[in-house]
Amino acid sequence: MKCRVCQNKINTFMSFGKMPIANAFLNKEDFEKEYFFDLSPAFCEKCFAFQIETQPDPQLMFHDNYAFFSKTSKHMQEHFKKYAEWVEKNFLYEKENTFVVELGSNDGILLENFALKGIKHLGIEPSANVAEVAKKNGVNTLINFFNQDIANKVLKEYGKADAILAANVMCHIPNLNEISKSAKILLKDKGVLIFEDPYLGEMIKKVSYDQIYDEHVYIFSALAVENIFLKDDFELIDLLPQITHGGSMRYVLCKKGMRKKSENVKKILNNERKQNLDKLFTYIKFKDNCEASKKRLLDILNENKQKGKKIVGYAATSKSTTILNYCKIGPDLIEYICDTTQIKHNKYSPGMHIPIKPYEEFNKKYPDIAVLFAWNHKTEIELKEKKFEKKGGKFISHIYL
Ligand code: TMP
Ligand code: ZN
Repeated sequence: MKCRVCQNKINTFMSFGKMPIANAFLNKEDFEKEYFFDLSPAFCEKCFAFQIETQPDPQLMFHDNYAFFSKTSKHMQEHFKKYAEWVEKNFLYEKENTFVVELGSNDGILLENFALKGIKHLGIEPSANVAEVAKKNGVNTLINFFNQDIANKVLKEYGKADAILAANVMCHIPNLNEISKSAKILLKDKGVLIFEDPYLGEMIKKVSYDQIYDEHVYIFSALAVENIFLKDDFELIDLLPQITHGGSMRYVLCKKGMRKKSENVKKILNNERKQNLDKLFTYIKFKDNCEASKKRLLDILNENKQKGKKIVGYAATSKSTTILNYCKIGPDLIEYICDTTQIKHNKYSPGMHIPIKPYEEFNKKYPDIAVLFAWNHKTEIELKEKKFEKKGGKFISHIYL
C-alpha cells in the first residue's frame, strides 16, 4: 500500500483478521448482512505514520446513529473542562473577537465550557445525532466534515480562529493533508491547532492493540505529527502527555515561527527515537506481543470457564471489538457485556455477537469475573465497583492492570 501522508510504498506488518465496524452494535436480524474488512496496521518508514491499511467508508462509521457519546464518562467531562481552561489561559489572548473551533465536537463536551463563558465557538461534527445533543445544550454546531470548502465558509461567516481544537478525532481522519490546508485557511497568524489522541508510544509499551480499530486510521507519534503538518508550514510548539484513553498525547502546532517552542518538543521527540518508534522492527516485535497477549487472555478465560465461573464483559467499548474479534471470543466465553449507553442495550457486539445488557444487570447478579473493556477508566470504575471486588469478583483485562 501507499502511505496516506507521503505516498511512500509501505508494507503491512500484521493482520488482526476480519473485523466489523467497532461501533456497529446490531440486532439479530442484521447478523447476515454484517460488514467486515481486513484490519491490518502498517508503518511508514519515511514519515513514521502508523496507519491501518483499509479504512471502511466514513459514512459507515460516522452517521446519524453514531453510538458514541463523549459525555458518558464523568472523568472525561472533568478532563475536557480542564482542557478548555488551559486553552483559554494560554491561547485566547485577544479580548475581542475570540473564536474557537472544534473538529468532531461530538455532544459538545469540550465546547460547552466555552459556550458557558459566552466565547464565540463552532463545533464541526459529521454525526447528526450527537451534534443535535450538542445544539440542545447550547453548543453552536455545524453538521459536516471539515475541509477547505467548509473552512472558507466558516471564515466568511465567523472570521479567523484563535484555536482549532480536536480530541480523539484527528486520528480518525484519513486525509490529514486536507485538514492541514483547511486549518491554515481558518487560523489567525498566531492561531493554534491543538489536538489529542491515543499515543503510539503508550500503545507499544502497554501492547494495548485495542486502540487499533476502523475509526483510528492513525495512531500518532510526535515524530509522525511533525512530518504530517510540516508540509503546510506548521510546526510543533508543545507536547503534553495525557492519561486519557489509556495514554494520549496533546499536540500543539502553529504557523512556523509564530510562537515560542517548548522544551518538551525536543525531549519527547528524543524519547521517541530512543523507543525506536521510527523503526520497523519495533512494530514487528509489537505483532509478537499482540499474539502473546491474545494467548494469555484466552488461557485465562478458558481456564475459568472450565471451572464453571460466570464471566461477563464490563463496558461495550469500541476498543473491545478488536479484542473480541482478534481473539475470537464469543458468548460461549463471555455471557454478556454490560454498558451504560442506552442505544447499545439489547443489541449484540459487532462480529462476535455477545449480548449487550444495561449496566443494572451487572449489579443484579455479580459475575465471578468481569473483563474490563474500559480498562482506561479503571480508577473510576474500581471506585464505583468496590462492592463487586469485596464480594470476591475480579476484573481482568488483556492489559496487565
Ligand atoms: P470508551 O470511552 O473507553 O470508548 O468507553 C465507552 C463505553 O464504555 C460507553 O459505551 C460507555 C461504557 N462505559 C460503561 O459502561 N461504564 C463505565 O463506567 C464507563 C467509564 C464506560
Ligand atoms: Zn509516509
